[in-house]
Amino acid sequence: MLLGTATAALQNSYAPYSNFHVGAALLTETGHLFTGCNVENASYGLTICAERAAIFNAVHQTQGKLVLRALAVVNGNQVPCSPCGACRQVIAEFGQNTVIIFRGQKDYMEMSIADALPQTFRLF
Ligand code: THU
Repeated sequence: MLLGTATAALQNSYAPYSNFHVGAALLTETGHLFTGCNVENASYGLTICAERAAIFNAVHQTQGKLVLRALAVVNGNQVPCSPCGACRQVIAEFGQNTVIIFRGQKDYMEMSIADALPQTFRLF
């Protein structure tokens, strides 16, 4: 279900530079769904990944009152694509037990964010 929603979000991606279109969908502990897509820029470093776009969308819609249960990411090239390090840190901010779902070398994989980003940076 989350993978299907992420695939729909992928259609909204803006990726004219890499042509690597990515969609993400997340489910909160209260059962709400939010989506995001990657948005690139001519100044490449300003690009935002689909995962962070989805989380920032969710924060905006919930006034920051959210805990992530799961987050799925898909890409248009059907190649392995796990969340990047920056996105892992942002995912961990909003739920230490979040399950991330992404395409691995063979099939889709599920993993907790705690396993994907051990020793997460925290201020308190
Ligand atoms: N990208 C994502 O949106 N999520 C990932 O997990 C990996 C990379 C995007 C950023 C950029 O627009 C494109 O994929 C190529 O790096």
